[in-house]
Amino acid sequence: MREITKITCIGAGYVGGPTMSVIAHKNPNIKITVVDLNSARIAAWNDENLANLPVYEPGLDEIVRDARHRNLFFDTDVERAIDEADMIFISVNTPTKTYGKGKGQAADLKYIELCARQIAAVAKDDKIVVEKSTLPVRTAAALKNILDNTGNGVNFHVLSNPEFLAEGTAVSDLLNPDRVLIGGDDEVAIEALVKIYRSWVPEERILTTNIWSSELSKLVANAFLAQRVSSINAISELCEVTGANVDEVSRAIGYDSRIGSKFLKASVGFGGSCFQKDILNLVYIARTYNLHTVADYWEQVILMNDHQKSRFAEKIIQTMYNTVNGKRIAFLGWAFKKDTNDTRESAAIYVADYLMDEEAQVVVYDPKVSDNQIYSDLVSLGTRSLEEIKRLVTIVNDPYDAVGDAHAVAILTEWDEFKTYNWNKIKGEMKKPAFVFDGRKLLNNIEMNKLGFEYYAIGE
Ligand code: UDX
Ligand code: ADP
Repeated sequence: MREITKITCIGAGYVGGPTMSVIAHKNPNIKITVVDLNSARIAAWNDENLANLPVYEPGLDEIVRDARHRNLFFDTDVERAIDEADMIFISVNTPTKTYGKGKGQAADLKYIELCARQIAAVAKDDKIVVEKSTLPVRTAAALKNILDNTGNGVNFHVLSNPEFLAEGTAVSDLLNPDRVLIGGDDEVAIEALVKIYRSWVPEERILTTNIWSSELSKLVANAFLAQRVSSINAISELCEVTGANVDEVSRAIGYDSRIGSKFLKASVGFGGSCFQKDILNLVYIARTYNLHTVADYWEQVILMNDHQKSRFAEKIIQTMYNTVNGKRIAFLGWAFKKDTNDTRESAAIYVADYLMDEEAQVVVYDPKVSDNQIYSDLVSLGTRSLEEIKRLVTIVNDPYDAVGDAHAVAILTEWDEFKTYNWNKIKGEMKKPAFVFDGRKLLNNIEMNKLGFEYYAIGE
């Protein structure tokens, strides 16, 4: 197999963009082209003003500044990029199906299949095709089948190389990964990909497995992480009725080295593009093989998460004398976690929907999420027209505009800046009693009570 000198990545999203930027940064001798059908997204990746990159990740601007126009290129010409590449990463979106068989559970693989067909049609020489998107187990086989049966007689080697980066810490996760996982059945192709990662990842952290183990491990890693959040969230409800404090419980159990201290923060519910989708995938696969007890077990992680989101909204309504009709509720945060502008599956969307059902006036402030994104998240729930949403939801660019005259503040994302606000001033500007519902346990209970707030936090 020839030396890898040109890589193409199809899909310039939250995974493809940052991952390829870091690979390019660490492999200056490899030309990397990231392509996307979305020309606005590509234009943003090429924007000279690095503040306009389509993905916000701390430290990403510096990496892009270093590699862009040197060996990192963003382009819309998918065919040319496929033609010239030795190795092609597929990093397109795999949303949950919204139609047909597996609706609401299975991953929609139409974008992956389109990519495979396009690669097969264009390729004139051998290629290594790497699955980067999170996929159901055995997708690689489907991919290989399409490539081999529709191609021009060239050889394709398919590898699975799932991405474990978390948003908000993508750059540090990529620079210093716990592990890199590569699944495949061709030693030469595996070695070609290992070599790229070896430029900066210690050898012992590069794991190679068979392709199915690699695909399944990605789903299982996310399922275990989400399960921890649902587990601690279940305990948060118990804490609220018993007088225990969930942070204290997390700390106490986290000291047990078998349990570990990470990922035990109770919250209004997990969001993000991966957890729910991957568990639904796992559930779907288990059901396909008639493993109903296994499927029910994992499904419960999602049901618990849904419960946590609606429980938070109900708490707001119940505490505010069972009516929020016409009341102004200031949302601090819309992103699914801090340090990202990504809102996919964010708890804020569902809490807002619940409050809108009760005719609340929701005012949203998020430091990184655009107005359009917030409206489009609410429209895509399919419960209301944009006009109706605009009647109930206002978006502001200054947090103090959100809280002025508010009956309540609800903290939905754990942005650090919320801790630094002048809460005394906020109290002065709110309607009384001034309610704060802290879905992230971000603020200090004692201090908030001292300032005169009616303060409620998850799990205490
Ligand atoms: C996750 C996995 O961590 C990552 O390895 C995988 O590649 C993609 O999915 P991500 O969704 O970006 O990453 O963020 P993560 O930090 O895992 O948080 C997911 C959600 O769980 C967020 O909404 C977060 O607020 C919530 N969470 C996380 C908690 O509520 N409590 C915790 O203790 C940890
Ligand atoms: P992820 O979080 O997995 O990176 P995103 O939705 O952020 O998902 O990014 C996926 C990107 O893939 C989108 O920008 C989308 O336009 C792009 N995409 C999907 N299908 C194709 C395709 N056939 N060719 C090129 N780009 C594609």
